[in-house]
Amino acid sequence: MIEVKAEHPYHVTFSGSWASRLNQIQGKRKTVVITSSEVVEHISMMVQEYDIFLVPDGEHAKDFVTIKKLWDFFESKGIERSDLIVAIGGGSITDLAGFAAATWLRGIDWVAVPTTLAGMVDASIGGKTGINGVSGKNLIGSFHSPVEVIIDLALLSTLSDRDFCAGLAEVIKCGLIADPEILKILNNSSPEILRSAAGAVSLSEIVRRSIVVKADIVSEDFKEKGARAFLNYGHTLGHAIEHLSKYQLRHGEAVAIGLHFAAHLGFKHSGLEQESYLLHRTLLERYGLPVKYDVELFEPLLSVMHLDKKSRDGIIRFVLLRAIGYPILSSDLSETDLRTAYREVMS
Ligand SMILES: NC(=O)c1ccc[n+]([C@@H]2O[C@H](COP(=O)([O-])OP(=O)(O)OC[C@H]3O[C@@H](n4cnc5c(N)ncnc54)[C@H](O)[C@@H]3O)[C@@H](O)[C@H]2O)c1
Repeated sequence: MIEVKAEHPYHVTFSGSWASRLNQIQGKRKTVVITSSEVVEHISMMVQEYDIFLVPDGEHAKDFVTIKKLWDFFESKGIERSDLIVAIGGGSITDLAGFAAATWLRGIDWVAVPTTLAGMVDASIGGKTGINGVSGKNLIGSFHSPVEVIIDLALLSTLSDRDFCAGLAEVIKCGLIADPEILKILNNSSPEILRSAAGAVSLSEIVRRSIVVKADIVSEDFKEKGARAFLNYGHTLGHAIEHLSKYQLRHGEAVAIGLHFAAHLGFKHSGLEQESYLLHRTLLERYGLPVKYDVELFEPLLSVMHLDKKSRDGIIRFVLLRAIGYPILSSDLSETDLRTAYREVMS
């Protein structure tokens, strides 16, 4: 069990049976389960006793039409302040369901049951909830933490290899910014091993450690006034690539390219040793993640990075490493620095 201190403290619980843990939390409360038919297909759902609301799969869940339907559903079911919302799915569903819980009756309890690796180590923890706007991701949202996050690693068995490895990009990021032990475990493993019975202990350990990294940072800085920005390592370029590729790349894949780029910047500008820079690439490639993007696309990527919510006064801020486990926030990189580094890394 891992504690997160946010607007209210809550636990991330490891359970061999998410359904029985959910039953314990639910008590006698009226409960709405939000999930998608694709997720239901993959997991054995023992939720007949709940009202189920199915949403579109993936990123399509996070839109205004769906949230409006959800509010209408809550109204028709007479959902009250003391009732419960449960999200079962990847980050798209936990983001949407958390936002529905945040906005219904000015905030009711919700529980996250993440079914993807990215959902377990990242999206379901930290209280950021929301939907997409017309011009960008996560533009409409709220901080509203769940009352519990239930981690059942068995749910990952049906995940595609691509989504599994995309989730590992966030795990690698956690290792790089705060917990080198994660990198050691990954260095001695592979996607195949982690997904086999022989790798179960390692998988459990890296998931637990990544959650601790995120929980500790969020507990220190819930509203992202300082250290929480370190969780964006690799995300400045990653988000721009995601946007420019029109989401053809998974979030984790775009972040992987962003991590490789940030490592090169760190090597050139913040004292990161060459060995540590090269470790980024070795690990990302070992887990089937991309490390390069089109070398000709720097200028459009730069424009997108300027639009990012986190760029201030026209200055693009990058999280860099001074060493593994020692992130810093850099805002003194010029466009020429970025352009040169991009060309060096991507060609
Ligand atoms: N709130 C946050 O702090 C935060 C952090 C990171 C990412 N996010 C958000 O999370 C979303 C991405 O989440 P994601 O990577 O989990 O993707 P996702 O939720 O879009 O799911 C990816 C795919 O996996 C499938 N899937 C889910 N569980 C499965 C299972 N157990 N077996 C087989 N298939 C399964 C889904 O049907 C979907 O097609 C993005 O919208 C991103 O913005 C939020």
